[in-house]
Amino acid sequence: MPPEFLTLYASQAEQALERALHKRQSVVPDRLWEAMQYALMVGGKRVRPALLIESCLACGGELEKSLLAAAAIECVHTYSLIHDDLPCMDDDALRRGQPTCHVKFDEATAVLAGDALQGLSFELLTELDVDAAIKVDLIHRLAVAAGGQGMVAGQVMDMQSEHMPDIDILRVEQIHIRKTGALICWCCEAGAILAGASEQALAACSRYGKAVGLLFQIADDILDATADTVTLGKSAGKDEAQQKATYVSVLGLPRARELAVEMRDLAIEACEPLGERGEALKSLAHYILERGK
Ligand code: IPE
Ligand code: IPE
Ligand code: MG
Ligand code: MG
Ligand code: MG
Repeated sequence: MPPEFLTLYASQAEQALERALHKRQSVVPDRLWEAMQYALMVGGKRVRPALLIESCLACGGELEKSLLAAAAIECVHTYSLIHDDLPCMDDDALRRGQPTCHVKFDEATAVLAGDALQGLSFELLTELDVDAAIKVDLIHRLAVAAGGQGMVAGQVMDMQSEHMPDIDILRVEQIHIRKTGALICWCCEAGAILAGASEQALAACSRYGKAVGLLFQIADDILDATADTVTLGKSAGKDEAQQKATYVSVLGLPRARELAVEMRDLAIEACEPLGERGEALKSLAHYILERGK
């Protein structure tokens, strides 16, 4: 079961997303807007918004200040999912329990909806109610995390590593840190920065983000191999079918599970400097591990 605050922050981030979409409905072409709205609002656990909000609260910040950034990261994440599902990439027909964006609409619309969501995420960050220097810092960090040295780099490496029988775990780790870890780590750092965190607290959130980011993708690899399609809301068993390089394919299920526990423990240890206020981040790390058990 997800912790209660995840459900609460998920709905608050969704309201922020709905407001952002609604504001743009009259200026975005109808079909594009519908595809963006479909991909964003069809569901999703909203783990990244929760990580961002909790990192902000753990550093003494306010929930209100973090909501727009929480909406922004969900836009980048959703864009990454739309493109990940395209026939030229993982070729998936199911996402968040519904037909994928390119199945529901068409491929060109899906590509462009992803592009537009990426743009929207940066637009939302410019609207944050914080000093311009903080906005620039967050935008710069997100550009790095999402782009050719972050998420996109990981996706390219993921594609290049398909059907490679003798791939080693260090390479898989590098893929996972980029394709999934980079955006998750951004959430934790952005939350801290929005709270005006001390250097020590920002470093703690950053360490936590790195551990939980890798944990998240290891858990995703485990779930792909062990859970069913209905539970996941996306096609199970795809990694094996497509011969993806994953923790499970390279190390086997038992060792992947052990490493997931190690990452959870690293994440929890990283929270120590945050004291009592870091408890919710610890619960999120437990939840991310438990999902993958
Ligand atoms: C799936 O992310 C893609 C990965 C990076 C592993 P999530 O498991 O967070 O997907 P949603 O947002 O809940 O649909
Ligand atoms: C996706 O990894 C990471 C992204 C950048 C979207 P996966 O390909 O394993 O994600 P799922 O399993 O399709 O959600
Ligand atoms: Mg993929
Ligand atoms: Mg995929
Ligand atoms: Mg997966």
